[in-house]
Amino acid sequence: MISRVLTYSDKINLPPNVLKLFGSNIIMSDLKSNKVSKLYEDIKRAKISLQGKKYDILRKNAVEDSEQFWEQQAKNLVWFKYWDRTLTWDPPFAKWFAGGSLNASVNCIDRHMDSQFKNKAAIIWQGENEETRTITYYQLFKHVNIFANALKSLGVKKGDRVIIYLPMVPEVVIAMLACARIGATHIVVFSGFSAKALADRANDSESKVIITADGGYRRGKIIELKKIVDESTLSIPSLEKVIVLKRASNDIKMTNMDVWWHEIVQNEQQYCKPEILASTHPLFILYTSGTTGKPKGVLHSTGGYLTHLYATTKLVFDFRSTDIFFCTADVGWITGHSYVVYGPLMHGITEIMYEGTPDYPTTDRYWAVVEKHGATILYTTPTALRMYIKFGDNTPKSFDLSSLRLLGTVGEPINPDVWQWYFETIGKGNCPIVDTWWQTETGGIMLSTCTGIDDTIPMKPGSASFPVPGVDMAIVDEHGEVVDANKKGYLMVKKPWPGMLMTLWRNDNAYQDLYWNKFKGMYYTGDYALMDEDGYFWLLGRSDDVLKVAGHRLSSMELESTFVSHKAVAEAAVTGRLDQKKGESIIAFLVLRSDYPPTEELRKVLTDHVRKTIGPIAVPEGIYFVSKLPKTRSGKIMRRLLKSIANREDSIGDLTTLEDNTSVDEVKHVFNQLKNEIVE
Ligand code: WTA
Repeated sequence: MISRVLTYSDKINLPPNVLKLFGSNIIMSDLKSNKVSKLYEDIKRAKISLQGKKYDILRKNAVEDSEQFWEQQAKNLVWFKYWDRTLTWDPPFAKWFAGGSLNASVNCIDRHMDSQFKNKAAIIWQGENEETRTITYYQLFKHVNIFANALKSLGVKKGDRVIIYLPMVPEVVIAMLACARIGATHIVVFSGFSAKALADRANDSESKVIITADGGYRRGKIIELKKIVDESTLSIPSLEKVIVLKRASNDIKMTNMDVWWHEIVQNEQQYCKPEILASTHPLFILYTSGTTGKPKGVLHSTGGYLTHLYATTKLVFDFRSTDIFFCTADVGWITGHSYVVYGPLMHGITEIMYEGTPDYPTTDRYWAVVEKHGATILYTTPTALRMYIKFGDNTPKSFDLSSLRLLGTVGEPINPDVWQWYFETIGKGNCPIVDTWWQTETGGIMLSTCTGIDDTIPMKPGSASFPVPGVDMAIVDEHGEVVDANKKGYLMVKKPWPGMLMTLWRNDNAYQDLYWNKFKGMYYTGDYALMDEDGYFWLLGRSDDVLKVAGHRLSSMELESTFVSHKAVAEAAVTGRLDQKKGESIIAFLVLRSDYPPTEELRKVLTDHVRKTIGPIAVPEGIYFVSKLPKTRSGKIMRRLLKSIANREDSIGDLTTLEDNTSVDEVKHVFNQLKNEIVE
């Protein structure tokens, strides 16, 4: 079964803004060629099933009475006590299912102990070096209980914060669920982050414990995680213990604060009674980049968050008990939290966890993993797909991918030509694609085709289609008025939804300011979008200073303060350049202090400084040394101008809405001057 694919020849004209975003050479040529008729043949072969307007009706009812819809969904979870009120909305603070109590680990594991899933594989783990481990729900239950007891023995209590800084091994899931079991709030820090990033997060959250490993594997090399932790612990006053998992057996130094994972679990009881937690109990904090220089601690609840995930995994992916779900995200990001850990496990699905990168040691890893373990759903990023396209079709074609029934993407806009490649080369025209839009803050998917309720909704390559049932979204202009079809505007959420962040950790003011003050009563996503005449949403990139590099969020401000923290740099401005592979890459404009000449050597030093301070994902693609930064009369950096230069545009383009009354001539002059100054 498959959704119908609409293409541009099918009456749909790509909205002009979308065309601009993707470039004019997108698949227009393909679409006029035989490829389209082949696409239609594929679709016919895939037997379109027409089930009427079920989806429309459900969506309409769910939006009109969203509380009732979410209440129904919440009943799919296991509760110790049902809630008194579905939603308590004291803008901008929402409490979902207040009065109710539950435990996230019970919902992911205990609930399967009396079902047919008990001895089913929960996690099929695939290591970078062909190592494989399979963990059943029963085994996962045991591991989580024992580790939860070990945490308790170390003095971790309900409400404490615990940092998890582990590679992609099953223990990361065990650690998260064990925290959830005893009511400790977990903070997973991506294992590619630096010692400083780790210390900042541990300090901001006042964490008591760090769970790490001696080392993790990445591209055949050992990342010395424990060493990075050692560097950071010097500056974390709240820290009491470091738990170390033996993974790479590299040489490490154990201090008084350190304990081995395998030793602390040795004599623990097999069962740990789960804490009875309020629906609003903070399940986790996940730090993410915003428009400020400092990462924000996005705080998620238990009951609301799990309800959103239970519902969206079902609606979007149409989970079936026979599914083998392969989400390629690292657990260090929100996609890993929601769709590697909580969503699939609540449903008793078998999931694949892959330790490595898509192209090491060979350029076929995802396809090899799909074939080897018989994945039925693949959920990955446009960046990974763009990389695979570069390697050519022969690689995926040499694998048996026939187990796949559904494909998904997340994290950035997918170019229609990449979509088409995914559909044809990977899905062989048999698998619908769900393009899912959401954010760390939204907790779960907000926009997507929902294959779970209706498979007749036509897919439009490059569009994330509609809000999921129960979610109400709109596109508005500068004044907060809903814009006409095909007009670009700000993407907003009109009503609270259960997966929404509760607040920013210990920063209610910033929460209110960043998300709720732009237009009163609506949540500001920070994205541009437009809706076409059929009601499909098209994402048009960020409207703020957040960059999306290979699907990862980075803030220009954070990068700028990192540059300026180096003694050679007086001033910095960072912007994004459209990148064929990564979606966006980082370009920095730097003004150096007078005693530092702009040398190639210094470029390397500064690149290294960013790598060490934030992590390898923040390494800039280009560093331009300039004599001064272009500023408006009131001293604001002209970011649009920098973006044009970074993108090697000939002119700055539309100057109709210049901030600050800076004259058009002035800007043009600065633009030309700066362009001439830049040596690539
Ligand atoms: C972008 C990732 C276009 C968007 C789950 C959003 C997307 C940001 C899509 C959140 C998509 C995510 N199409 N853009 N399907 N999905 N984005 O917090 O800019 O890492 O605001 O969450 O990613 O990034 P985050």
